[in-house]
Amino acid sequence: MCSIIGYSGLDSAAPILVKGLQKMEYRGYDSVGIATESGKKIILKKGVGKVVEVNNSIMLDALPGNIGIGHTRWATHGKVTEKNAHPHSCNSGKIAIVHNGIIENFEELKSELQNKGYKFQSETDTEVIANLIQLNFDETMNIKQSIMKTVNQLKGHYSFVVIFEDGTLAAARFHEPLIVGVGKNSHYISSDVLGFIEKTDDAIYVDNEDFVIVDGSGIHIFDFDGTLVKYQITKVSKEFADVYKGDFAHFTLKEISEQPDTILRAIDNNQIEEFVDNIKQAKNLYITGSGTSYNAAEITKYLMSKFAKIKINTLISSELPFSPNEIEPNSTLITISQSGESADVLEAVKIAKESNAKILSIVNLLNSSLSQQSSLAIGLNCGPEIGVAATKSFTSQLSILYKICDQLCNGCINPDWEKVSSAISLILSNNSKVKEIAKNLRDVSDIYVLGRGIHLPIAKEAALKLKELTYIHAEGIPAGELKHGPLALMDSNVYVIIINPNDSTYNDTLNSANEIKARGAKIIGISDKKSSVYDYWIDIPSIDEALYPLIEIVPIQLLSYYSALEKKTDPDYPRNLAKSVTVK
Ligand code: BG6
Repeated sequence: MCSIIGYSGLDSAAPILVKGLQKMEYRGYDSVGIATESGKKIILKKGVGKVVEVNNSIMLDALPGNIGIGHTRWATHGKVTEKNAHPHSCNSGKIAIVHNGIIENFEELKSELQNKGYKFQSETDTEVIANLIQLNFDETMNIKQSIMKTVNQLKGHYSFVVIFEDGTLAAARFHEPLIVGVGKNSHYISSDVLGFIEKTDDAIYVDNEDFVIVDGSGIHIFDFDGTLVKYQITKVSKEFADVYKGDFAHFTLKEISEQPDTILRAIDNNQIEEFVDNIKQAKNLYITGSGTSYNAAEITKYLMSKFAKIKINTLISSELPFSPNEIEPNSTLITISQSGESADVLEAVKIAKESNAKILSIVNLLNSSLSQQSSLAIGLNCGPEIGVAATKSFTSQLSILYKICDQLCNGCINPDWEKVSSAISLILSNNSKVKEIAKNLRDVSDIYVLGRGIHLPIAKEAALKLKELTYIHAEGIPAGELKHGPLALMDSNVYVIIINPNDSTYNDTLNSANEIKARGAKIIGISDKKSSVYDYWIDIPSIDEALYPLIEIVPIQLLSYYSALEKKTDPDYPRNLAKSVTVK
């Protein structure tokens, strides 16, 4: 996924575009570029790397003009090169474009254009759109007509912003997010409110299959058939302006440190009862998500069956297209997604709706596509999460799911949330041991994480955090499966993290630790009970058996963060990843 932005107003566009892109950089950070209109000419600059680096080397924010577009890239088509960086201009140079998403029929369109004499500089699908708009504009000499013709020729999922040499901005949305910011004598077009939230909190969430034109006469929104669309201005909650690291070195550490507070904010939600009522009425229940959100879905399965005596089927969103009849007709699908924009999750919703499923969602961004497609969406209320690896959103998801399960079993879990919050504070304050251990992981290439029962999804989440932040090969393994294969991997070169709180799984998991120790592997024990089998013991506070998953992930978030620093990777913007992947 990439970030796209446009500005038209009285101020100098380039500094505004560069600032907006910096705020949205978690969406993609392979390359950056902007184009402005000045003196009826389009001026374009771009480069490989992060916004600050590229801006320092080629001064993007010095481009002249009050109208412009900008982009940060997460490469899908073509290598990470300057040629493939956006913006892309058409052959005449009179139009430039930035794009987020994928054009599935770009090769077909490209050869049609090449047959008409168009030349291509890059390997991207995006440059095809630029030349297609030029072709349609040259035929119609009308910007609205040229956009209408173009969107009706494109296949795939996309949103784009185009600048014409007369200073007109145009943008279109087909499944990818697109938001307009309405300022005083100015308009912003962006993938995310973060792109303009510092300038205005008046936003228009552009509907799917609509396009926008901003010119001297103001803003106009049309559907893809060219019919004028009425639009509504929404006030964006100011909490989304809070995208500062404060005294923290990285957003990831800041967001890990916010968890004692964010879990309490998550459960303070008056929609949970309605969510519970919907679950009680459900015939068949399914739950889905991607990445960290899928691990939260797996935890829910344990909680529902153990406490609420309810059967719920977990589905990996990206796998559902390959087993479409998985979902019974008229079922209920719970979807979990921090961003609410992950394409795999939206695709799963589309498939479920084909079987008339009801969609209940747990999201952090309440104006996201997923919320709009759900019959009920409840928010995490944990504020923006900028670090690409999900941390606070995970414990907020778990907190809401625990509260839902507790209500489904009439308070049989009865979580002491203050105790959970202070337990996390204690773990955060005792991070010196974690920092020590991180030094030992600097040259490690394989880490296995073991857990049993409800701790298995935590083991998988732990492995995911280690992969995302340190690039170490890490795997979450059911402790009981050790003897059936993974034990062959155990030797003195590997580290094994054992998730082993003092609960009903304790003794069995300790046996697994001894079997591993016997093969020479080094053991990191996450537990509230000390044991000589651990080479390194990370102590966690004792708490009710049911609640350990809410706290035992925190030391591993910290270990992954400090190991990333030891390995000199960028914790906030891990290579090849993006905060949410809006392409399938
Ligand atoms: C990935 C993120 O792109 O998407 C992960 O890097 C995240 O951190 C996953 O867990 C799912 O995203 P979401 O927004 O659907 O929860």
